Amino acid sequence: MPVKLNESLSILISAEEIQEKIKELSQKIEADYGDEPILLLGVLKGSLHFISDLGRLLSSQTTVDFVQVSSYGSGKSSTGVVQIRKDLDVNIEGLNVLIVEDIVDTGTTLSHLRELLGTRRPKSLKVVALLSKPEARKHQTQVEYVGFEIPNEFVVGYGLDYGERFRNLPYIAILHEG
Ligand code: PRP
Repeated sequence: MPVKLNESLSILISAEEIQEKIKELSQKIEADYGDEPILLLGVLKGSLHFISDLGRLLSSQTTVDFVQVSSYGSGKSSTGVVQIRKDLDVNIEGLNVLIVEDIVDTGTTLSHLRELLGTRRPKSLKVVALLSKPEARKHQTQVEYVGFEIPNEFVVGYGLDYGERFRNLPYIAILHEG
């Protein structure tokens, strides 16, 4: 059961649990990629803390780039319209691209991104997502590494926002109507 924190937020995943999970994910990723270099591709803005914490645990040769894809506007539900607000700076042809996402919710953002990046002929294309909401899925899309599967609640913190608030929280919390 989530711990009730105040009227609007209940902690679902603590900062310690997040860091422990990222350690596990980094070990799996290193075991899979071996000596292959990896381009960590952060999806802004939600992945800001995740890519930073994950990247620091990887001893593989990594480079970093970002895309910004937005489908939520300032509200709580996806508009279903995916906008590329910032494209990558690098050409990914022949690279091992690991998309770093904070959350896969409806799957709209990720399925669009996978399709787009797939046309650019990377050597490999995989996804690591800290959170996944399987019950919310509208577009089936592959996620090779998942940190936590969570219930279909609106969550904030550790990069995730509601109207740009709460991204700075070190934990993941359920935002209650109030
Ligand atoms: C959030 C999140 C994912 C996406 C997941 O981004 O960071 O990228 O939504 O939702 P989906 O699976 O339903 O597409 P958002 O568009 O809110 O932008 P932000 O990261 O800048 O907050």
